Amino acid sequence: MAVISSFGEVDGQPVIDRDTCTHCGSCAETCPTGVLTMSGDSVLVDVAVTFGCIACGQCMMACPTGSVSVTGRRLSPDQLVELPEPARRASADQLEALFLARRSVRRFRPDDVPAAVVDRVVAAAATAPMGIPPWEVGVIVFRGRPKVRELARDVAHTYAGLLKWMDNRAVMGLLRAFAKRSTYDQFRSFILPLGRDIVAARRSGQDKVLYDAPAALLFHTSPYADGADAFIACTYAMLAAESLGLGSTMIGCAAPPLARRRDLLRKYGVPDRSKPAIVLILGYPVATYVRGIRRPFLAVEDFQDRARRR
Ligand SMILES: Cc1cc2nc3c(=O)[nH]c(=O)nc-3n(C[C@H](O)[C@H](O)[C@H](O)COP(=O)(O)O)c2cc1C
Repeated sequence: MAVISSFGEVDGQPVIDRDTCTHCGSCAETCPTGVLTMSGDSVLVDVAVTFGCIACGQCMMACPTGSVSVTGRRLSPDQLVELPEPARRASADQLEALFLARRSVRRFRPDDVPAAVVDRVVAAAATAPMGIPPWEVGVIVFRGRPKVRELARDVAHTYAGLLKWMDNRAVMGLLRAFAKRSTYDQFRSFILPLGRDIVAARRSGQDKVLYDAPAALLFHTSPYADGADAFIACTYAMLAAESLGLGSTMIGCAAPPLARRRDLLRKYGVPDRSKPAIVLILGYPVATYVRGIRRPFLAVEDFQDRARRR
């Protein structure tokens, strides 16, 4: 049995080159589903185990002699790349410095983002983990202000339409009576004021959706994606952008209105049945930040301590 994806229920197909395999067991050690196991000094392959080979490719990446190849589920051995030397990988200090310096940037210099830089951000984002391979996330790239402005205008128009029927006492009364309290509160305190702000800004020629950014990435997900996949990919893109001297902001307010508009999904090329999840705006920042911030999580507790206190 294979895990379903947008192209059906297909298994990955691991093949071991028995002539070069040294029986070290690395492939079996890294296989998350138990498709590859060791029996004595031989590697057994059984794609009928649990939900079969998900084509994560870990066996290919761990095999010291390159004796494993996996195909299927959009994976192929030619996607493998050589790893940079450990000394060329970011240290914990470097990574933390990058994290601390990143801010959500909403004012951009006039310069465009070169196509190669945008492509590099997208390629870096594609190295992110996903719930189950292969990627069920797609990216639509908006290069240049005219394209980004068009998307921002479409989102603002959609908010204007939403406000026409929602922004009154009767509809909000119904929401209060029948929706969950948290949904009502979110509409009252955030979505309606946000919509009003976006629409009013639009009328005065401002873009409060995509902040007149020179580039944007729209991440969309198929029905088979884990809900977190697009957000994780977007986070990777954001950090990659930071490392390339770009500023970025994740824009959550664009996807929900877009998802309601079939005409816009078609216009922008979101595949059938896929849904917009999140937008990342990109550009060279105007501001220079001289401080970072360490915000505490809502709670960080040591589980054992907590159990002891009870
Ligand atoms: C999932 C998500 C959605 C967001 N949506 C928006 C948005 O629609 N508009 C916006 O201006 N900022 C948006 N942001 C940016 C946050 O407001 C920002 O991360 C937060 O204010 C903290 O600022 P910092 O990123 O500079 O630390 C979003 C961030 C995340 C993670």
